[in-house]
Amino acid sequence: MARLDLDLLGKSFGDTTAVAGVSLNVGDGELVSLLGPSGSGKSTVLRMIGGFERPSSGRVLIDGVDVTHVPPERRPTGMVFQSHALWSHMTVFGNVSFGLRLRRVPREEIAKRVEATLELVGLAGYGERLPNQLSGGQQQRVALARSLVLEPKILLLDEPFASLDQHLRERLRDEVRDIQKRLGITALFVTHGQDEALALADRIVVMRDGRIEQVGQPGDIYAAPRTAFVAGFIGAMNMLEGAITDGRILAGGLHLAAAGSGPAHLAIRPEDIEITDSGEDGHVTVRRMIDFGSHVVIDSSLADGSHLRLQTTKGVRVGEGERLGVRVRHYMVFAEALRDPIRYRGAGVDMLPNMELNYA
Ligand SMILES: Nc1ncnc2c1ncn2[C@@H]1O[C@H](COP(=O)(O)OP(=O)(O)OP(=O)(O)O)[C@@H](O)[C@H]1O
Ligand SMILES: [Mg+2]
Repeated sequence: MARLDLDLLGKSFGDTTAVAGVSLNVGDGELVSLLGPSGSGKSTVLRMIGGFERPSSGRVLIDGVDVTHVPPERRPTGMVFQSHALWSHMTVFGNVSFGLRLRRVPREEIAKRVEATLELVGLAGYGERLPNQLSGGQQQRVALARSLVLEPKILLLDEPFASLDQHLRERLRDEVRDIQKRLGITALFVTHGQDEALALADRIVVMRDGRIEQVGQPGDIYAAPRTAFVAGFIGAMNMLEGAITDGRILAGGLHLAAAGSGPAHLAIRPEDIEITDSGEDGHVTVRRMIDFGSHVVIDSSLADGSHLRLQTTKGVRVGEGERLGVRVRHYMVFAEALRDPIRYRGAGVDMLPNMELNYA
C-alpha cells in the first residue's frame, strides 16, 4: 500500500507539451483510471511515475518521499506497458522470474513467488510454456504477473488489455480489480474505454491536451461533467450547438429553459429522453432503430437536420421515417458565458411555465 502524490508534473518533448502541470493525490489502495483521447498525455504521466521518463517540471512523491529522480528499479512501482513485450525466447517462468533474479532473490524463494503469482493470475502450471504457445489473454496475464511478482506498492497499468476482445477484456479487468483490492495495491489504470473506467475505477481522471479536465467518482463524472468536453467524452451524449436568448436555449430545433446568454451547448443523455407519442407533429424523425436486446436505441433527426439519439426500454418498436414526440427529463447547458454548467431537470421540449430549474 502506498500513497501517491503528483505535484505540478510536466513533460515537454522539444516543442510538444505532453503533460502540462498535472497535480493529483491518490490514496492508499485506491484504483484510479486515467481516461482521455489519444495523445492527451496518459502514458507520459504513467511513465514519469514509474521512472521511465524524466519530468521537465514538478515532482512525484510516494508515501511522502520525493522519488522524482529515483531510477525505476528503485521505486516501489510496477508497470505493465501499453505494448506488452514478453521475452519470446524465455519461458513464462523465465519472464516472470526475471525481475527477482535481477534483485538476486534466492532461487527457492523465486520458485515459490513465481508459482504463487502465476496462480494468482490464473496461469498455474504454465511456467514451462513459451509466449508464442499462449493466447493473447494469457500473454497479458504473464505481463501482469511479471509486475505483481515484485510486490509493487503501486501498480501502473497502461491499457494492458487494449488488444483483447471485449469479453476477455472485461474478465481480465475484473480479475485485476479483485487482485488489486485483495493485495491492497494502489493502482493507476490507463484506458481509452470509458466503460472500462466506469466499471473499474474508484475515481476517474479525465485528461485532455496534457491537463486534467476533471477528477471524480465514476457516477459523479457521468452525472455532473464540469465541461462540455467531459460531457461528450464520458458516456453517450447528444451535444447540440445552439444559443441562449430570453431564458431559453434553442438548439437543433429544441427549445428549453436556460439561464445565461450567447452561444451554448445543449447536452442530453440518450436515456434522459422519453418518447411521448407518435404523429405528424412530433419533434424528431426516426432514422434507424437498433435493438440491443436489453434496450433499444433510436437514431433520429431534429428539425434542423442534427441528430438526436434516444435510448428506450426493450420491446419498443418504431419504423424509419416515423415522427415522434419527445420529452427531455434532464439536460445540461454549457455556455461560454457561464463559469459552470447548469443542470436542468424536467419538462417537455417546449418550455413549460412551471419548469423547475435545478442549479447544481
Ligand atoms: N518520446 C517522445 N518524443 C516526442 N513526443 C512524444 C514522446 N512521447 C510522447 N510524445 C507526445 O506527447 C503527447 C502525449 O503522448 P502520450 O503517449 O502520453 O499520450 P497518450 O494519452 O498515452 O495517448 P494514447 O492513448 O494514444 O496512448 C503526444 O502528443 C505524443 O506525440
Ligand atoms: Mg498511451
